[in-house]
Amino acid sequence: MTAGAGTGRRRQDEVYRAGVYGRRPRVPTVHTALAAAARRKLTARALGYVAGGAGGESTVAADRAAFDRWQVVPRVLRDVSARDTSVELLGRRLPAPLLLGPVGALELVHREADLAVARAAADTGVPMVFSNQASVPMETTAAAMGDSPRWMQLYWSTSDDLVSSMLQRAEASGCEAVVVTLDTTMLGWRPRDLDLGHLPFALGKGIAQYTSDPVFRRLVEERAATAAPRDPQPRPTPAAVRALVGMARAWPGSLVENLRSPLPRAAVETFLAIYSRPSITWTDLAWLRAQTRLPLLLKGVLHPDDARRALDEGVDGLVVSTHGGRQVDRSIGALDALPDVVAAVDDRVPVLLDSGVRSGADLFVAVALGARACLLGRSYVYGLGLAGEEGVRQVVEDVVGEFDLTLGLTGHTAVDQLSPEVLRRV
Ligand code: FNR
Ligand code: LAC
Repeated sequence: MTAGAGTGRRRQDEVYRAGVYGRRPRVPTVHTALAAAARRKLTARALGYVAGGAGGESTVAADRAAFDRWQVVPRVLRDVSARDTSVELLGRRLPAPLLLGPVGALELVHREADLAVARAAADTGVPMVFSNQASVPMETTAAAMGDSPRWMQLYWSTSDDLVSSMLQRAEASGCEAVVVTLDTTMLGWRPRDLDLGHLPFALGKGIAQYTSDPVFRRLVEERAATAAPRDPQPRPTPAAVRALVGMARAWPGSLVENLRSPLPRAAVETFLAIYSRPSITWTDLAWLRAQTRLPLLLKGVLHPDDARRALDEGVDGLVVSTHGGRQVDRSIGALDALPDVVAAVDDRVPVLLDSGVRSGADLFVAVALGARACLLGRSYVYGLGLAGEEGVRQVVEDVVGEFDLTLGLTGHTAVDQLSPEVLRRV
């Protein structure tokens, strides 16, 4: 059922009625409990990858501290019986100011990975942003979504042909926008993953958009034909065998044949060689712009001057984000960066807020500070890990439900009534 106005009371009703018969929600409602449950359930590698941040993780904390600096000032006696939580974004009405942000390698937390997220997104009407590092090809994920809204997130590869191919596939898969993530031209310094020696992509996890791509497959075949001396076979330790089986599974076709083929390993090596392009600059954006008719949003903008430059380059939207604190330690928190970016953009394109969003009250604060909508990250990933599709759906309904109630309980009936006036800075 679409998650929008009325979700708060419907969800309370469901939960409290079921509680009479001793049933409790599948996943905890508040993020801290959700994260604690996920800590118990996930493998050490999955937990390190999902929960971890860059360096000492002070940016992860800053993203949250930024929310703590704002308080809501409720108003009373203003008929809030009928509420509308919807917002307009790039020509589409969304049931609430919420999207599911791009998260890679979801197979680490649940077998159904992106497919479970897609079904929950379609069910609730909340758009899903397909990750460039997804565990399921975008065509398959899109097919599970009917007409529900989806976007595609792009990492700017060193192969122009691959970038063009991914964008064509996004269009053919019914994606309604492309989000280029600019803060991850190199992977951040992540101690939790470093200490476990764990990078999912090196094991063939989270590279399904690549192994399903005709251009990428051609690059892999070329590499396999020439690269044997550069990629020596590892010693056959149990871990190496597991890794090779994982890579063989990631390559399309029969597992038995893949185990004998050089292609799965060549795919991982090719991915590692071409996934990122740290040399990109503002002048490259025009090329990207010309590769697709879809609206283009930039993810990872934190400085108002970058926002102004982005507008000069004709982008269609911005995502203010610290990448969940995974890239730069001791960075400004995303919500702290929002007001200056919103002022610089001056309503010319939508500004979205990502990083540190945990609840409906967080949506309320971000929207009041000028975000058109927010992207959810780890929260729904924990829901996925704990209860698959149902877990994601519940997290989405919990966030939207709380937003719906917060809107009404503060004296508002529509999202466009929110402004910084409804907040007080602590
Ligand atoms: C991410 N994020 C991310 N972003 C992106 O553009 N492409 C990607 O493939 C990924 N992958 C990814 C994996 C995992 C495990 C996490 C936690 C995050 C970043 C994501 O889109 C978003 O910016 C953050 O998750 C937002 O922060 P919170 O909500 O997790 O605090
Ligand atoms: C990450 C990349 C995939 O944050 O965006 O791990």
